[in-house]
Order: sequence, then structure tokens, then C-alpha cells
Amino acid sequence: MAVDLLLGLQWGDEGKGKIVDVLTQKYNIIARFQGGPNAGHTLIFDGHKHVLHTIPSGIFHHSALNIVGNGVVIDPVILKKELENLDRHHIDYASKLLISRKAHLILPTHRLLDAASETSKGKAKIGSTLKGIGPTYMDKTGRNGMRVGDLELDNWKEKYRALTEKHIRMLDFFDVDIQYDINELESEFYVGVEKLMSLEFIDSEEFLNNAVKEGKTILAEGAQGSLLDIDFGTYPFVTSSNTTAAGACTGLGVAPNRIGEVFGIFKAYTTRVGSGPFPTELFDDDGATMARVGHEFGATTGRPRRCGWLDLVALKYAIQVNGVTQMMMMKGDVLSGFETIKVCTSYLYKGKEITHLPYNIEPENVTPKFTEFKGWKEDLTIMTQEDQLPRNLLDYIKFIEKETQTPIKIVSVGPDRKQTIIRQF
Ligand code: GDP
Ligand code: IMO
Ligand code: MG
Repeated sequence: MAVDLLLGLQWGDEGKGKIVDVLTQKYNIIARFQGGPNAGHTLIFDGHKHVLHTIPSGIFHHSALNIVGNGVVIDPVILKKELENLDRHHIDYASKLLISRKAHLILPTHRLLDAASETSKGKAKIGSTLKGIGPTYMDKTGRNGMRVGDLELDNWKEKYRALTEKHIRMLDFFDVDIQYDINELESEFYVGVEKLMSLEFIDSEEFLNNAVKEGKTILAEGAQGSLLDIDFGTYPFVTSSNTTAAGACTGLGVAPNRIGEVFGIFKAYTTRVGSGPFPTELFDDDGATMARVGHEFGATTGRPRRCGWLDLVALKYAIQVNGVTQMMMMKGDVLSGFETIKVCTSYLYKGKEITHLPYNIEPENVTPKFTEFKGWKEDLTIMTQEDQLPRNLLDYIKFIEKETQTPIKIVSVGPDRKQTIIRQF
């Protein structure tokens, strides 16, 4: 099948960027299908670290084309910075980065509205990355948005100004103090737009479907994670797009019967950044150790990530919603040195033991029940083959495979491109 999907099964930051980079050599096209610069996808190779927000994670390979799909929202100001980072590393993107005309634009005032909305919520805030994601998708579904293709019209600045003025009036509805200089924001936006317009715009659904007909292979790259999905995540503490498999169909214009493998990525433990329920969250030394050893700080905002044990109830839910065919387990190396590893296998929900994710997973409704495993001490980061992996880790992997009925094809043992063990079966 022509189009494989790769998406996160938890609350984001599972390591999608790293694995897309590892898999890129097998594909002709890498296509981002949703989200925007709220994403931070980290790639490490040849001693350099790169964080991508909008650009697909195949950009560092010569062989593949990279497409920013219609489901993505683009902030020209942030995209410009990403492109400048590529310039600094002499990466030639001009011929291999294509932008969908139907992708929506994040205007500076979308960012202001995001900040105003979050501030007005006080303690109930979502913990948004404040990149303007929610307000931009609201304009998209409200049929008011500006799209990349609009930039090819002579009067795009009129459209920009009309929408901006509307946003400024909307800001007044929020009784909060947001400081901004609209002229400064506008000139920064115009400079970003100029850089964006130096890239090639395409009718991406046409392009991708033609590629499929020509026998080309496509890897669709997701952003965020399944539990941040607007429909299936821990609403309202979610993002504003469909991060799950169906989002790839609407975010790229490829039909469901074109989808082949669905690769689901998860960490050997769980993290979450921002607000919202997280049943297996740890507030003790174990959680602090995961955060320290795993360098659990947001790639976009630098905020500390909350850490906890692997939650198989939530993982099974994500596998089901996405139709995952293969999994990748990331960051097992971070768990080296724990005496005991715990995995949540059921919840105590209103006095009853359940194994599905219920509507209310707030701490007052749900108590996780754990199965314990013996830990391992070996340093995984120097391992290159499956037969070097410690017995106790293999037991842990086999248990997850048995519980989820899904094979774990890749075990990642460090952040570098090379620290990737592909299992043979
Ligand atoms: P993404 O948003 O899913 O692409 O993930 P992020 O890049 O936000 O977060 C994943 C973090 O874990 C990054 O800092 C990666 O460099 C790092 N990472 C990825 N895989 C591994 C791994 O197997 N072990 C360790 N220790 N770090 C990893
Ligand atoms: P990647 O692609 C982790 C979280 C935010 C917040 C909620 C809504 O790197 O995995 P938004 O900015 O979308 O309004 O924020 O979603 N969030 C992420 N958490 N990884 C991400 O992306 C995220 N993108 C958004 O922290 O809780
Ligand atoms: Mg990330």
C-alpha cells in the first residue's frame, strides 16, 4: 500500500521526529498532516540536534520530498526561523519542500487570542503552547480563515487586515491585559510571508494522489499524540486537530483504502506537558528520575514534562482508534537502573475494575492498578542489536505485545539516529 502513517500514541513527544528521520530512506515522500508549530520534533545525528516545528522530519535526507499538507496550520514567522536553521546547516530545501495551498495561516492575532483565552481561563487553562493553534483552527472550521493559496491573490493584505481587525475586536471580549504592538507584529508577519512565498505551493491532494498512482511511497507524519486528539483525547485538554489516523486522510486528501501500515510510537513510560488528567502520573523520586534521565522538557516551550508509568489502558485505546499495525517503543534506556518497573493494566473506576478508557479519567474517578516487572541495569544506549537487550527488558516488551496484540518493531535506545534497534520478525 502506498501511504503509511506514523503517529504518537500518548500525549505527544513520543519521538516521532527521530523515527520519521530513521524511516525516510524507505519513502519517496514525507507529508505532515495536521498540527502546527505547537509540535517540536527532535532529530539528532552527526553530533547535531535539530528541532522541527512545521517542516516534515524527512528534510535532512536528499532522497525524499517533504510536503506540508492541507491539515497543517502554518505560522510564517516560525517557519522562517526553521528555514533559517536549515540555511545555517546548508540544507537545500528549495527543491524538496512543498506547501499545500489549502493549509491555513496562523496570523499574529491568532497568537494573541490564544494568550487571551488561556489567561482568562485562569487555573482551568489548557496549558496551550500559545502558538495560536486553537484560534486558527476555529477560523478554519468557522470558515473565516486565510489559506496559503490566498497569498497568490493580489488583495491578500486586505483579507489579512480585515481578519486582524476582527481579531482585535474579539480581544476586547476577554477581560485580560495582553500587551502587543500591532505594527511590529504585522511587519514581522509580512517578512515571514515573503520567505514562505519563496517556497513552492501545490495542490497537495492532487500531487499526492498522482504520486500514489505512479507507485511512489508516502509516509504521513503526525504531530502531537492520540490522547491530544480533538475528538478522542482528554477533552478539553487537547489540541485542536485530529491527531489520529483519520486525520491523515482529511489532512492530506488520501482515501482510507490507500493507507497501509499504521506505525504507533510510544515511550516506555508516559509524559505529558500542559494541563489535564494523567492517571499514571508520578509525584515521587521515580517521576523525577524519568524527567532528569529522559531530559523531559518540551521541545517547543521548554516546559518540564510531567512523567509517569506506562498506561496500557490508554495505549490500547490509542491502538484501537488508530488501527495500529506496528509499534515503536522509545526511551527504554531511560528506565535502566529502576529496581522495579510498573505498568498500568487496569483502572479502578467508581469501585469497579475496568480495562477501557472511560469518559471521565480525572484523578477523583480513576485509580490505576499496576503490574510490576523486574528492572534492568545495563546501559542500553550502546546496544545495536536485539540479542544484546537485557532479559528483563525483553520480558517487558513481550508483555506489552501480548496485552496490546500488536508487534513492537523498533526499540529506540537513545536520541541519536543510530541508537535504533530494528527487530527481525
Ligand atoms: P516528538 O515530538 O514525538 O518528535 O518528540 P520530541 O522530539 O518532542 O521528544 C522526544 C525527545 O526524546 C527528544 O529530546 C529526543 O531527542 C529524545 N529521544 C527520542 N528517542 C529517544 C530514546 O530512545 N532515548 C532517549 N534517551 N531519548 C530519546
Ligand atoms: P509534538 O508533535 C506535546 C499540548 C500542549 C497543551 C495542549 C494544547 O511535539 O508531540 P496547543 O498549543 O495545541 O493549543 O496545546 O496540547 N501539545 C503538545 N504536547 N507534544 C506536542 O507536539 C504538543 N502540541 C501540543 O502542551 O497541553
Ligand atoms: Mg515534541
